[in-house]
This record gives sequence, C-alpha cells and structure tokens, in this order.
Amino acid sequence: MKPTPLIAGNWKMNFLPSEAVRWLESFVEQLELVPHQHADILLNAPFTHLLPLAELAEGTPVRIGAQDVSPHQAGAYTGEVSGPMLKDVGATFVIVGHSERRAYHAEDDTLVNAKIIAARTESLVPILCVGESEAQREAGEALPVVLGQLEADLQGVSLRSSGELVIAYEPVWAIGTGKTASADDAQEMCAAIRSALKRLFPRLADDMRVLYGGSMNPENAGELLSKPDVNGGLIGGASLKIDSLLAIIEAAA
Ligand code: PGA
Repeated sequence: MKPTPLIAGNWKMNFLPSEAVRWLESFVEQLELVPHQHADILLNAPFTHLLPLAELAEGTPVRIGAQDVSPHQAGAYTGEVSGPMLKDVGATFVIVGHSERRAYHAEDDTLVNAKIIAARTESLVPILCVGESEAQREAGEALPVVLGQLEADLQGVSLRSSGELVIAYEPVWAIGTGKTASADDAQEMCAAIRSALKRLFPRLADDMRVLYGGSMNPENAGELLSKPDVNGGLIGGASLKIDSLLAIIEAAA
C-alpha cells in the first residue's frame, strides 16, 4: 500500500508573519470545504512565523515545519536556530539540504548530514532534499549524483519508524522555473531513491515517503502524484496561493 501522501508547502522567504496568520486562517476555513483526509498537509514557513502559525494550526489538519536547522544544539552561533528552538515553538518537520541552501549558503553533504542528525535528536522529521543540476542531467549523471547525495547525507542516521524521515527529489533545474520533470522521470528517480533507502533502512523503506518537488502545480500534480513511488510534493510557488495548494491536495486523492 502506498504511504499517505504528504503535501508540503515550502514558503521560502515570503509573507510577513501577520500575512501568514491571515493566510492560514483562510486556508483552514477553505480546507474544510474540500476532500483532504487522504493527505497529510504541512507548511514550511520562515522562523519568525513558526510560533503564531503552530498555535493557530493546533487542532487543524495542518502541520507546521521550518526550512532549516542548525547542526548545533545551543551556544555561540550567531544567527543560527537550533532543533530544540524549533521544537519548542511547535514545528514538527524541517527541510534540510534544500538546493537554495546548498547553492547560496555553500551547504555540503557533511553539513547536511549534521543537520539531519541534529533534527532527529529533537524528534523533528527532516525533509531531505536531493536533486541534480541541469548540466548533471544532460551529462547523464542524474542518478549517481542523487544517490551519492542520499548516501552521504544519511551517513550514521538510524530510524525506528518509517515516518521519521522524508526524502524530496527536487531536480534543481525544475525549481521555480516552471519546468517540471516528466511524471515518468520523477517516478524513475523516486523508485531509485526508494531502492537506495531499502539498503539503508530495509524494513522501513516501503513505507517511507519520497516526494517530488520542482514547479509542481494544479495542472501537473495529478499525474506526478499518481506514480507509485511519488508520495507527495514539496511545493514552492504554488503553495503561496490558497486555491493552488487546495487543488494540489485534491489531486493527491
Ligand atoms: P517550486 O519550489 O515549486 O517553486 O519550484 C519547490 C521547492 O523549492 O521546494
């Protein structure tokens, strides 16, 4: 049986905290009017938004996550936000290794691995992002690049249950570009990721969620989400609009 799909918004650096609260109030109202019980729903918001959003989301089907976490627990790390802090304000998930952090903040696999371990120490569920660049895909290197990231980023990570880690396959060339991987290419890569997860977590991999991310929208979501190894989406641009996110949730049914 396929795992319950996870429809996860990645808001990136958008909305003021006050706008985010109004957005969520309206989203929750409208969510009640559409079928949504077939999916888990998550919004990954900026740090400053987490506390008011998590308070507002309590008792609703929406869960709140962060977009990054420090590899350290506490101490002299100016500007950093730790796993214990995220947990304390009500975040339950955290995106780790997003390609924008790898590209603009020089995050390498060693750091991403340390962040995954820091998140797990606090029982936060990391959403580990992996994906190849356009040049790597054109050179036929997509598969080894993605599987190499996965193996390096998950060194020494142990899990007790399948819900403790989510993987997001996000081809870098599809993020924010309007270009999407074809549903068959997304399926091929997500299946390869699951095979690699089977080596790492033999008893859990079949039930772990592997998401697709990269210009997912209401038009392409149905086909992508119908693929056997695609268990949800990590959605940037289309998660900022209530109508689009609701349509994607419906498409996951
Ligand atoms: P996009 O972003 O949906 O705007 O392409 C996805 C992501 O970066 O997670």
